[in-house]
Amino acid sequence: MYSFETRCIHGEEHSLSDGNCAVSFPIYQTACFSHLTPGHNPSGFDYSRESNPTRRFLEETVSSLEGAYDTVAFSSGMAAITTFFDLFGPNDRILCGEDLYGGVVRLINEVLAVKNYRIEAVDMTDPKAVEAAVTPDTKAIYLETPSNPMMQTSDIAAIARIAHANGAMLAVDNTFMTPYFQHPIEEGADIVLHSGTKYLSGHNDTVCGFLSSKDPAVAERIRRLSKTTGATLGPFECWLCLRGIKTLALRMEKHRANALAVRDWLLARDDVEKVYYAGSGMIAFTVGSAEQALSILKRVKLITFAESLGGTETLLTYPIMQTHPDVPAEQRERLGITDRLLRMSVGIESAEDILADLAQAMD
Ligand SMILES: Cc1ncc(COP(=O)(O)O)c(C=O)c1O
Repeated sequence: MYSFETRCIHGEEHSLSDGNCAVSFPIYQTACFSHLTPGHNPSGFDYSRESNPTRRFLEETVSSLEGAYDTVAFSSGMAAITTFFDLFGPNDRILCGEDLYGGVVRLINEVLAVKNYRIEAVDMTDPKAVEAAVTPDTKAIYLETPSNPMMQTSDIAAIARIAHANGAMLAVDNTFMTPYFQHPIEEGADIVLHSGTKYLSGHNDTVCGFLSSKDPAVAERIRRLSKTTGATLGPFECWLCLRGIKTLALRMEKHRANALAVRDWLLARDDVEKVYYAGSGMIAFTVGSAEQALSILKRVKLITFAESLGGTETLLTYPIMQTHPDVPAEQRERLGITDRLLRMSVGIESAEDILADLAQAMD
């Protein structure tokens, strides 16, 4: 098998080929595919909601990087996550992390609760807490590691063992680490989720999501659900993501190096109370007051005040206002998502320029 970096660029050795020797896999901008006669469909493709060659190539590439049996590409990370929860139904018990992207908390509280899903938040940093909460009727465990925005980390292998001992599946959101730094399936997870909008696409220019699974039967259910509910990814967005993934390895190294420089710089400042860093390019930090946080957001120049992460550009986000306003205030307070918390997605510009911009915004 090719190495990780090579598979980012070429896919697997046996990957789908376009037939016309195009070096960049083409964008199959078509809604449907012709059949020769009833029952004779030489391409194997029917209709692009269900499957499309550009999407298939992307899905095979992500499967290869995640070590999954199959992957489905969705129109957003939230579409992928919604499809994951569609695997379950009313009265199913699911344990989820306490600290999750705010959109997932909104999905749980405003959509799944209404459908009578029994979802309980558990401290996923502590396998003992998970063990105490899991029951034989628990159908799944869902977590982010590191989590958004507090960078909490989980022992995937330990939680996978607990899940499997109770007949539950483990789903891990690998958006922050990407398969460059972390392989949840290798560690025992059953499903890996991604907001592909972030590091996989990597350029702040497209929105997409992935559900990768290791079990053929689960993969088949996800494919059938995605074909039926229809939030699959269009060919152009597939191509953008494929292009992004080609440089994943290079970008992740630079994101990490820059993030370490920013982390050390923040740790040395008296006006920074706490720095949260768990690897990759993501940092959260708490300053002394809400006024200071707002002033930094106003004063940054190179660093962009915007709500996303994982792209080439350094972004600064105000979780309480942008990504987590729908998390109940008491839960936010308990986790540390206060009006003094800033989240930074450290880009791949020169570290010197990022630090100079931070210095002029904070001094
Ligand atoms: C960890 C994580 N998972 C999922 C999502 C949702 O992905 P999308 O915005 O692509 O729908 C996000 C969005 O920020 C996220 O940060």
